[in-house]
Amino acid sequence: SRPITIAPSILASDFSRLGQEVCDVIDAGADWVHLDVMDGHFVPNITFGPDVVKSLRPHTDAVFDCHLMIAPCDPYIEAFAKAGCDIITVHAEAGPHLHRSLQAIRSMGKKAGVSLNPATPEEVIEYVLDELDLVLVMSVNPGFGGQKLIPAVLEKARRINDMIGDRPIDLEIDGGITKDNAGDAAKVGINALVAGSAVFKGGNIDAYRTNIAAIREA
Ligand code: DX5
Ligand code: ZN
Repeated sequence: SRPITIAPSILASDFSRLGQEVCDVIDAGADWVHLDVMDGHFVPNITFGPDVVKSLRPHTDAVFDCHLMIAPCDPYIEAFAKAGCDIITVHAEAGPHLHRSLQAIRSMGKKAGVSLNPATPEEVIEYVLDELDLVLVMSVNPGFGGQKLIPAVLEKARRINDMIGDRPIDLEIDGGITKDNAGDAAKVGINALVAGSAVFKGGNIDAYRTNIAAIREA
């Protein structure tokens, strides 16, 4: 099975020290950096755009796992690709042309992901499975960190894992992941765990190391 990947969401970090936070969390044992991009339109919150990603890029070689919570997304794919994202994930609900968005991401040489909100059924990925490198199952309604995982999405993740079969597609979960539910997520086939508050609580690199180890252990 695929190796477990831990992707801290910098949404829960100190934005005034973002470069250092990214370095610290990777030094503390994280695998990817999860970048939550919000537009105040697709989701009721605003974070940052491609220029922030670009300024973080020289700080680490770690995979930048970029979660675009923006609509429309197509006009911004090129900018995020050029800013140094390695994985670009768009929402299935963000527009009518998911297949086109995924093709656009791959045409920039990046890995293409699709994210599903908690109410979105797994069928939306059925005809794009061969255009995908990652499926991101939202376990909270996107927009804010620090929410509680919605248990019903674990059954959806299990079904998506069956749909993926032996394709080389990562299955990621995002929202409310802690050391107490990371094991349940892994049990249904999830291999990539996003965690914001559970990683950044404590506010320093020693705390991050302890927090990441606890999630990995679970
Ligand atoms: C939610 C974001 C998540 C979130 C995770 O809209 O996509 O990445 O920040 O944060 P926690 O782990 O605190 O739920
Ligand atoms: Zn996210």
